[in-house]
Amino acid sequence: MNQILPPALEDELGDVLEKALRLSDLSPEALAACTGVPLARISDAIDYRSDLTCAELQKLAGPLALNDVGLCALGSGAYPKPEIGALPFCVWPLRMPHGIGVANAYLVGECGSSRAILFDTGAGIDALAAVWPASVRALDAVFLTHVEPEHAGGLCEVVARFGAPVAFIPPGATAGCGGPIPDGETRSFGPLDVTAFFTPGHAAAHHCYLVTRRGSPGGAGLLVSGDLVFAGSVGGAYFCRDKLRASLRRMLTAVPPATVIAPGHGPLTTVANELRYNPFSP
Ligand SMILES: [Fe+2]
Repeated sequence: MNQILPPALEDELGDVLEKALRLSDLSPEALAACTGVPLARISDAIDYRSDLTCAELQKLAGPLALNDVGLCALGSGAYPKPEIGALPFCVWPLRMPHGIGVANAYLVGECGSSRAILFDTGAGIDALAAVWPASVRALDAVFLTHVEPEHAGGLCEVVARFGAPVAFIPPGATAGCGGPIPDGETRSFGPLDVTAFFTPGHAAAHHCYLVTRRGSPGGAGLLVSGDLVFAGSVGGAYFCRDKLRASLRRMLTAVPPATVIAPGHGPLTTVANELRYNPFSP
């Protein structure tokens, strides 16, 4: 894989606590009352001024249904970032500033080829063009994880500019162009297979995509996870928190642990790392 410096985690401890409170239906007051951790210390942590100890985070983890090992690692600024091993194809993470954050799209293709598959389109064609690798001159397909402005901008322009013959979106999504690919279906591009997994929760229509290479036994795959799971966190459960948890559980157990995760925000990680450390790990 081409070498890319890892970006910062998408979520800090405060973001994780806030998301976990929403997922659990607890108020900060109720969390303080049932754990004995002072409300002011919980509130400070949510406001990014945490000095919560690991012992306090372990108390908070139970009622919030969080993985205390990962929560403690995140709280101490030491969330593990796994070594990303070689994949049997090339991956170009395309990191595009959006608002106060960064959204990721990904190109995947055979190393040395001028053709690739694009996963998500970022905020629009200009943002995408600014980070586009010169070696990729044509697309075989575009796949969208979900239709939000920072991930699906300018899909039709991208399709036209790079001559992508097909574009796929999750069932139920509307993107101006592109057609739905159902859960469990695979499309092949040369030796690369792309399989769709319907993973609602962050959005009603959300897909993850697993990229594998045929004839590469033992070769790890790439899971393009959109806003379902990030290194150290999950996407907001804007559609349905129960479905988000179910989709997370399904996805982290449906693919081999060595699978590399390529999330919509933040750095690459692995399924094994997130199963072990992600605070929301099932
Ligand atoms: Fe996003």
